[in-house]
Amino acid sequence: MCGIVGAVASRDIVPVLIEGLKRLEYRGYDSCGVAVFNDGLKRARSVRRVHDLDTQIRETGFAGTTGISHTRWATHGAPVTVNAHPHFSRDAVAVVHNGIIENYEEIRADLRAAGYEFESQTDTEVIAHLVNHLYKGDLLMAVQAAVTQLRGAYAIAVFCQDEPHRVVGARYGSPMVVGLGDGENFVASDAMALAGTTDRILYLEDGDAVDVRQTQVTVYDRNSAKVEREVRIVKAQDSGADLGPYRHYMQKEIFEQPRAIADTLEGVAAVTPELFGDDAAAVFAHIDSVLILACGTSYYAGLTAKYWLEAIAKLPTQVEIASEYRYRETVPNPRTLVVLISQSGETADTLAALKHAQSLGMSETLAICNAPTSAMVRQTKLTYLTRAGVEIGVASTKAFTTQLAALFLLTLTFAKLRGHLSEAAEAAELRHLRHLPVALQSVLSLEPQIIAWADKFAHKEHALFLGRGSHFPIALEGALKLKEISYIHAEAYAAGELKHGPLALVTDQMPVVTIAPNDALLEKLKSNIQEVRARGGQLFVFADADTHIQSSDGIFVIRMPENYGALSPILHVVPLQLLAYHCALALGNDVDKPRNLAKSVTVE
Ligand code: F6R
Repeated sequence: MCGIVGAVASRDIVPVLIEGLKRLEYRGYDSCGVAVFNDGLKRARSVRRVHDLDTQIRETGFAGTTGISHTRWATHGAPVTVNAHPHFSRDAVAVVHNGIIENYEEIRADLRAAGYEFESQTDTEVIAHLVNHLYKGDLLMAVQAAVTQLRGAYAIAVFCQDEPHRVVGARYGSPMVVGLGDGENFVASDAMALAGTTDRILYLEDGDAVDVRQTQVTVYDRNSAKVEREVRIVKAQDSGADLGPYRHYMQKEIFEQPRAIADTLEGVAAVTPELFGDDAAAVFAHIDSVLILACGTSYYAGLTAKYWLEAIAKLPTQVEIASEYRYRETVPNPRTLVVLISQSGETADTLAALKHAQSLGMSETLAICNAPTSAMVRQTKLTYLTRAGVEIGVASTKAFTTQLAALFLLTLTFAKLRGHLSEAAEAAELRHLRHLPVALQSVLSLEPQIIAWADKFAHKEHALFLGRGSHFPIALEGALKLKEISYIHAEAYAAGELKHGPLALVTDQMPVVTIAPNDALLEKLKSNIQEVRARGGQLFVFADADTHIQSSDGIFVIRMPENYGALSPILHVVPLQLLAYHCALALGNDVDKPRNLAKSVTVE
């Protein structure tokens, strides 16, 4: 999604601005741009890749010591050059912006009445004109005055013609960091953008503004009072940029899952609340229910955990889509543990849902997150860090399975605290968890069979996914993966729901992917399979070795290992990831950057 880099230095900072954008590229964007001060405001923009922008500016000798750059993921206005950032106001003020300004139409009308002309359809251009309109010789004051008029979410970086050695940043609802250098300073939407430039990072808080100059950085809070924000040393994470033997990051990340799970479980010798933070024992002691808030794939991890938490820990659990929860009237319970699940830790809807829960008096919060320095980790009381490593493919894979591993540990922790986990059972469950990487390897070895299926599948227009119990969320996740990267329309149903409507869709043109673990619901699922077969539907069944489901006319079976008990969903999602991947590959799609999607969804 959108990315920001800004810099004030005594050297040419264009390479830093471009390198920063390259580091943020994997998040998805559809246009990009850079502006510098060089005897006036100069700008270059592209609706292609950062690489093209780089080529364009190299050819024109574009350089400057103060500047800002941006990758844009279109919200207001198509991805065309005039909508790409930076936006200028009368060649006097330049702005880049992440987030959405909800009242931009009102502000635009006022500014038009004041004589400003708009060249884009974006909400961002109003910020440029507003700052210009309010500018009376001090950029910081103009920005501070402008943001009081903005409703919505923003992280902005601004510079101007009259004070060319200064960049002002401000944030509310969208992340922004400041990077400290020697005789040069930076802002960015993520510390990762500054990796290799500086590791001394301070995180702005909501409502902060920052005045960035070559040798000085000053932060002001929402009341315009000077504040100190802690400087942290943020080591560049291994970007995972080396593809090794893989064709795409998604494929690499699917195959990294055994390692990612092993890393996520590293050091877990026993089930104890301290795994979730020093205060966890005190917090967990008075918890009587769980509320999980997340989006997309992370939401499906939450749905799976509900099956575990209720069945194994006997703990009432609710799972809500973050963007629904934040606007819904609910009945708050201060004894509820609010669990946020997020790969990026920066998802705007999940962060807003967290804030909403906190505003309702629910202060016991836990983030299960893959980004150690993210806003979510900083804003929750407790944390479990998944150690999947950087996930570059837009379609989440290893983040999901590591989230599940963490959620299973949470389940075991509550089961133990509530007297539902004997010592022997704890030891057995930990053995199972530790064996997961090996079990995953054997599932990954099914890839050749899945490639053969993908050839049959790739040219279908629709698909149904069926699962029951804790494998229903896995069916949802499988359908989401197929939609996202192959663009095949896919829906998932709890298999028992089929006859209540979706069976009407089943014809010989409708492939039905079925997840068939050898669990208590197997016989019910076998009846559902027959219901589909009787209507001519083609079944593609991932069946545990001990289910005895055989391939026959219209039924194709890939045999999974023997049933893996409660952890079986973690194994069953992997072939669905591979199926989506190989369908997308067969269709020639851009697997790692599917159309219209972004990696980190930092707008509502
Ligand atoms: C799908 C996918 C998304 C994310 C969702 C939440 O493959 O990646 O559905 O799961 O946008 O993102 P995080 O987990 O970063 O909060």
